[in-house]
Amino acid sequence: MRDLFLNRAKEGCRLSRTIGEERPEIYRIEAGSDLSLYPRVSMEFEQLITQRYSVRSFRSEHLPETVIHRILAAGHKAPTGCNNQPQRILVLNTDDSIAKLKGCTKCHFDAPTAMLICHNTKESWVRKYDGALSSPVDAAIVATHMMLAAHDLGVGCCWVMHFDPDAMGSAFHIPPHIEPAALLVMGYPSEEAKPLPLHTQTRPLEEVVVYESFPQE
Ligand SMILES: Cc1cc2nc3c(=O)[nH]c(=O)nc-3n(C[C@H](O)[C@H](O)[C@H](O)COP(=O)(O)O)c2cc1C
Repeated sequence: MRDLFLNRAKEGCRLSRTIGEERPEIYRIEAGSDLSLYPRVSMEFEQLITQRYSVRSFRSEHLPETVIHRILAAGHKAPTGCNNQPQRILVLNTDDSIAKLKGCTKCHFDAPTAMLICHNTKESWVRKYDGALSSPVDAAIVATHMMLAAHDLGVGCCWVMHFDPDAMGSAFHIPPHIEPAALLVMGYPSEEAKPLPLHTQTRPLEEVVVYESFPQE
């Protein structure tokens, strides 16, 4: 399969230049398929999602306000359930607030800046069948927009869930109906920053995608 992609890449096949080039082994496309029929995403988008990785080593300077604003603006464009926009974002960009953050998580990686994306459960869209809230999902989408925008701006970022929500609540006076969903620790990557091996451990596409129906048990 790898040969197929590499050969096609040499021929200038569009798919292999876009989704297949980096990790052809995860895309199980039938040999002999007309790969030119596959649509391609823009090169910029492909590069963004391919090159992003969780950065865990940072330079010490806090992010400039202008950069923070761009990242926040990208989150602000995210879709939310019924457009309720229940996200609440806590920006930490001083030595004092980062010191407090270090009491709430070991996964701070000495980042100079962090953003805690929370959701207001009182403003959530609620699914009537089972009472499920969209607000944690909304917050995750907002955080994803922000993480990708950060990468696009040359800012390294790691999504962190390993934090103590109670400690976070006390440290930053988070009201009970505002629940922290995602912590993004961020800053400019240090010279030593590199992806962990986990970054490339991707399950084959066919293991995570089911067409039309899950098999009947
Ligand atoms: C919901 C979520 C929670 C995560 N929590 C942590 C965390 O607490 N600590 C950490 O170091 N990385 C955390 N990560 C980062 C993942 O480990 C990382 O995204 C994954 O291993 C893939 O690597 P990559 O982001 O470099 O591609 C989290 C990522 C997600 C999406």
